[in-house]
Amino acid sequence: MPRKATKKKQTKPKQKSYVDKIICGDILEVAPQLPQGLVDTIVTSPPYYRQRDYGDGRQIGIEKTPQAYTDSLAKVFQRLLPVVKESGSLWLVLGDKYIQGELQGMPWRVALALKDVGWHLRSDVIWHKPNAMPSSTKTRPTTDHEYVFFFTKTKDYYYDADAIREPHVTFSEKSQMRGGRKHLGKRGGTPEKGKNSGNSNLHDGRWDQAFHPKGRNKRTVWSIPLSKFREAHFAVFPPRLVETCINASCPEKGLVMDPFSGAGTTALVAKQLERHFLGVDCSNEYCTIAKRRLKST
Ligand SMILES: C[S@@+](CC[C@H](N)C(=O)[O-])C[C@H]1O[C@@H](n2cnc3c(N)ncnc32)[C@H](O)[C@@H]1O
Repeated sequence: MPRKATKKKQTKPKQKSYVDKIICGDILEVAPQLPQGLVDTIVTSPPYYRQRDYGDGRQIGIEKTPQAYTDSLAKVFQRLLPVVKESGSLWLVLGDKYIQGELQGMPWRVALALKDVGWHLRSDVIWHKPNAMPSSTKTRPTTDHEYVFFFTKTKDYYYDADAIREPHVTFSEKSQMRGGRKHLGKRGGTPEKGKNSGNSNLHDGRWDQAFHPKGRNKRTVWSIPLSKFREAHFAVFPPRLVETCINASCPEKGLVMDPFSGAGTTALVAKQLERHFLGVDCSNEYCTIAKRRLKST
């Protein structure tokens, strides 16, 4: 069962015009115009620090210092807090940056800045990219991961653990894991029936790990290949990554927002999963691409 937030009176979206839309504009200007409590979850990947010039004067990512970049993103996500429901959340995907051979620690700088403006940090996920670009470096390991931070607005948030369970891997016929077959007495048994029935060692966590029919609780390393989309000059979100975030954090018919929507992958996946969407991007070109993709879905 999803971890449903205790029923509190939640503001319903008042203005239909923000639902199932791609809005072209600067998120810093758009965010304050949005109705409060509109969004169930945000799934987004802002421009990374000094990675790319999107050719718009309002763009984030080209700040002179890491601190200025962190401040810009903190301002954006502070403005988005009222737009998110009390039970709502934010999945923030960010990669790091080397400057003169030194890693800047950008994802964690941003994560801590978001905590400072009021978001609650619940999890740091490593997004492992099995098809990441090779690099010629011989002085350090080649980076093949980014971070996915999971934040919530309050302590009482919506989270459907069952919707994103993953296959069991630790429990098998040969498993030596304590709480595995050795604890059961016989094949096909359950901890409650086995020779250790009543053993407090077989607590809920172990049962969940080894026997839950839908799989074990989602782990914090997600291995998902990068996606190609030839019209975009950057790597778009792999739909699988977005799917996981939406399934965990957006109830049916809820609303998913991407404040840096680019080619519109978050909106597209939300639509496919029968959720509402709202995308914002300052680039006319990317808004047009996103709208076209959505139309042809
Ligand atoms: C990394 S891309 C997002 C890619 C997206 N996840 C996808 O799957 O297509 C970042 C986007 O942020 C947009 N952007 C940069 N600064 C912005 C701002 N101030 N307001 C709104 N969008 C902005 C850029 O135009 C770019 O499309």
